[in-house]
Amino acid sequence: MIFIMINKFTALIVAAGKGERFGGDTPKQYLPLLGKSVLQWSVDAFKNHTRISEVFVVTHPDHGSFYPGGIRGGATRQESVRLGLEEIARRSKPDFVLIHDAARPCLSPQLISDICNALLQHDAVAPGLPVTDTVKRLSGTKIMTEDRNGLYTVQTPQGFRFDKILGLHREHAGNAVTDDTSLFDDVKIIPGDRANVKITQEEDFAIVEKALSDARSDVRTGKGYDVHRLIDPLHAFQKLKLCGVEIPHDKVLEGHSDADVALHALTDALLATICDGDIGTHFSPKNPQWKGADSAQFLRRAAELIARQDGLISHVDVTIICEEPKIGPHRDKMRARIGGLLDLPLSRISVKATTTEGLGFTGRKEGIAAEAVATVRLPFGASKAANICETKKWGT
Ligand code: CTP
Ligand code: MG
Repeated sequence: MIFIMINKFTALIVAAGKGERFGGDTPKQYLPLLGKSVLQWSVDAFKNHTRISEVFVVTHPDHGSFYPGGIRGGATRQESVRLGLEEIARRSKPDFVLIHDAARPCLSPQLISDICNALLQHDAVAPGLPVTDTVKRLSGTKIMTEDRNGLYTVQTPQGFRFDKILGLHREHAGNAVTDDTSLFDDVKIIPGDRANVKITQEEDFAIVEKALSDARSDVRTGKGYDVHRLIDPLHAFQKLKLCGVEIPHDKVLEGHSDADVALHALTDALLATICDGDIGTHFSPKNPQWKGADSAQFLRRAAELIARQDGLISHVDVTIICEEPKIGPHRDKMRARIGGLLDLPLSRISVKATTTEGLGFTGRKEGIAAEAVATVRLPFGASKAANICETKKWGT
């Protein structure tokens, strides 16, 4: 009999600090940063990585309104990590854990992969950067030059064999330790990432904002187009669906799935930005699995594929072309539905409609057409990220 061992990697993000050095009313990890919170950037980086099976977040008991459902943290970072590890031990049985500070939102998929790979051979792994500036020690008025050889600044995520780090944290609970790696005698230092800056002081925020934006400067535009025929409902419960919203109408759209022509056009526009085929490539109309399927899952899948390449959806624009039904009264509900599916604010979602003045098949009310345009920001070299993140084809 052959046993295949699959290593389970879990992420633990500590976000229970008060951000006292940063200051302000909102703790730094909950500040908005290019469309989502500082914390959410790290959560998404782990969630979108195929090697990571679960993500746990430790939060301050007073911060439930910013991030509900987090694991209750402690008075120090060390205590928050220990409480997080104990909760993971109760809920899951990972082989490895990657511990990360919420205050470092510029976490790249490459760094996560590097930590995971190194963990296959080492119990403790940390990303480090060799000190390049000259290091001085000040003693009274005397200034001495230190030997910077072998000196590193260490970042997170730091990776550990789960049972070992849990055991060491239990053993040292109450003793002050500076970081998790200091609990180990042997730590493998792998190359860190200069962009993986920690937000500590107020001025760090602008640096991180620019780094995240610059890292996604490959702006792509994708276009999608789709048509479905209007028919009489096949049964009393069949409804016309556009942009994921049921619209009262005497006709419905014909198709293999729920025939949501607007979501199909939008899915194609999103897939076009990463040059990953079209809706039919991923969800074959020949596959019975997609019969009557909710097209929301097609859109979500396209968004997931973009997220796997560390991309950011900047804007989407959908045009529905029909004489009837009237789209205006449903427009805001449609935008909200797309926003929910893509995790996008309304300010980045446009839905509009036009008639064709009675001309053509749409003018004769034989069918509805939809066009969509999507703008996505990708890292340059996104195909490299795609290589490390397996892109699974569905339904083919
Ligand atoms: N952290 C934690 N629990 C604590 C203290 C810190 O989970 N009791 C987390 C922070 O939320 C942060 C990480 O540990 O993501 C690194 O800590 P730091 O940058 O020092 O953040 P704060 O402690 O929030 O900031 P400050 O020290 O300025 O108050
Ligand atoms: Mg702190």
